[in-house]
Amino acid sequence: MSAVNSIHPVSTSPAALTLRNVSKSFGEAHIIRGVDLELQRGERHAFIGPNGAGKSTLFHLISGNFKPSAGEILLGEVPIGGLSPERINRMGLARSFQITNIFPRLSVFENLRLGVMQRFGMQYTLWRPISQYRKVTALAEQLLEQVRLVRHRDTLGGELSYSEQRSLEIGMTLASDPKVLLLDEPMAGMSREETDYTAELLRELSVGRSLMIVEHDMDVVFSLCDRISVLVYGQVVATGTPEEIRNNAQVQEAYLGKEVAA
Ligand SMILES: Nc1ncnc2c1ncn2[C@@H]1O[C@H](COP(=O)(O)OP(=O)(O)OP(=O)(O)O)[C@@H](O)[C@H]1O
Ligand SMILES: [Mg+2]
Repeated sequence: MSAVNSIHPVSTSPAALTLRNVSKSFGEAHIIRGVDLELQRGERHAFIGPNGAGKSTLFHLISGNFKPSAGEILLGEVPIGGLSPERINRMGLARSFQITNIFPRLSVFENLRLGVMQRFGMQYTLWRPISQYRKVTALAEQLLEQVRLVRHRDTLGGELSYSEQRSLEIGMTLASDPKVLLLDEPMAGMSREETDYTAELLRELSVGRSLMIVEHDMDVVFSLCDRISVLVYGQVVATGTPEEIRNNAQVQEAYLGKEVAA
């Protein structure tokens, strides 16, 4: 595990994404309470924690779907806290949601092509210079290969298996060629085999980017990620390498339980 992680380059500064004292309240409910984090360039970072800890909320804050109540979020060195999701996406951050989000009545290729068109702010129209059309098509073909769905090029999104739909969704997320990629439980509902397949795909696709992932599957978290943060009641109670997290007594007690700690 450490051998694989050491191949993946992790540089130190400046961080790809920085969170400083980020908080979010809904009325009297303080859901995210002063989160600090530096996601390094090239790093794969997992967020783990019990249901309701605030993992998805944190992702919503980073991606612009929620506005932070307090604190600072920087993409590279640029503050993004409170900007719209579209702007943050154009600045190089993309995310997937906990629920699969594709167009079921379009083919796999059409889904990817739409993703690429969105990247260039293009509307769907036939009146378009042929050179632009070629560029979009070429990029969509490239994504099709990257997410290993070439054989399903003309299959409708809704007819793919569940795990293939998640691969397609990851491809759509990559259409904007993001520097930072946020994935919220990309393996949820998958079989062991599908989970391992998707983990391998993510390992490939995250090269040259920074990845932040929320995942409940501890095998995936511990083998894929360079560092792990544990979120409990909206606070990061520990951040460290898989080894450090595995051996952290507070984490074992709060979350992992004997099974993983053993
Ligand atoms: N829009 C909202 N208004 C009020 N409370 C909210 C809102 N969104 C989330 N919450 C609350 O915030 C808490 C954290 O939810 P969140 O979905 O971020 O947890 P999570 O760590 O992603 O959980 P899971 O592992 O189940 O996905 C929950 O108690 C939830 O009810
Ligand atoms: Mg969640």
